[in-house]
Amino acid sequence: MHNTATGPSNTSGAERIAQHRRYLMCRPEHFTVSYTINPWMEPAKPTDTAKAVRQWQTLYDTYVELGHEVELIDPIEGLPDMVYTANGGFVIDGVAYGAKFRFQERVPEGPAFMDWFGNRGFDVVDPREVNEGEGDFLLVGDTILAGTGFRSTGDSHREVGEVFGREVISLTLIDPRFYHLDTAIAVLDPVQGPGGVDHANIAYLPGAFDEASRAILAERYPDAIRVSDEDGSVFGLNSASDGRNVIISPRAKGFEAQLRERGYNPILVDLSELLLGGGGIKCCTLELRSKETSV
Ligand code: ARG
Repeated sequence: MHNTATGPSNTSGAERIAQHRRYLMCRPEHFTVSYTINPWMEPAKPTDTAKAVRQWQTLYDTYVELGHEVELIDPIEGLPDMVYTANGGFVIDGVAYGAKFRFQERVPEGPAFMDWFGNRGFDVVDPREVNEGEGDFLLVGDTILAGTGFRSTGDSHREVGEVFGREVISLTLIDPRFYHLDTAIAVLDPVQGPGGVDHANIAYLPGAFDEASRAILAERYPDAIRVSDEDGSVFGLNSASDGRNVIISPRAKGFEAQLRERGYNPILVDLSELLLGGGGIKCCTLELRSKETSV
């Protein structure tokens, strides 16, 4: 933890502490929308690659200014969705569980990310089951929240549990606009607080989940921020938090206010061009959790 800045005064009285992050990103040099694998993608609509790169650069610069480390993987021509690095794997304690994409168009990204992890010294686990990495797996405290319904399979939830030896909670997504878990849940504070105090908290869009999943979320995270459909629909939840600073879409006005009330510091970054591919801030960000001792 290198940054111990405290939050501004806030009505919750909570003092938010920023934690250091290490992320993997991919510059969208080959970004375009040439196929449709989610309802946001319309190949007939023109895309502006230079604009995508500029917006992406703002996100990159924001992370760096906050003191986070950002690693880059080289973009590959013909893989326009590679900018959404969250889907490239799921990394905890220096172990990278590889992705196995649902749709043919993205299948080659799986090995490309695994090569990168291997070359950078991560222990790579080749997946047997279809899963789209941190798009559908979110670490909250010691627990992995795992999404299914559109992309990652239920079998991958079992596999990810075996790989990391952690509790996995399966959640079912029901709205095709929110096809990855990271479009419907934001992990605001992923750490288990000192002295066993559980500070782990999330924000979520209730309407994106089936009834059973909603009940689990309500029971497990009674203090969660529930965002409005309006904020969810502009990918407000597809955001990145370091425990204090939360990078969100400027369109998610209500969520921005909710975050401030709780003592978080929302930072607005517009990735409108990347939304044409059905992705936002979190989609462009993969967390690299190293072994405590190694890095
Ligand atoms: N076009 C990409 C796809 O449909 C977008 C991925 C968004 N990534 C995410 N983590 N939600 O696969």
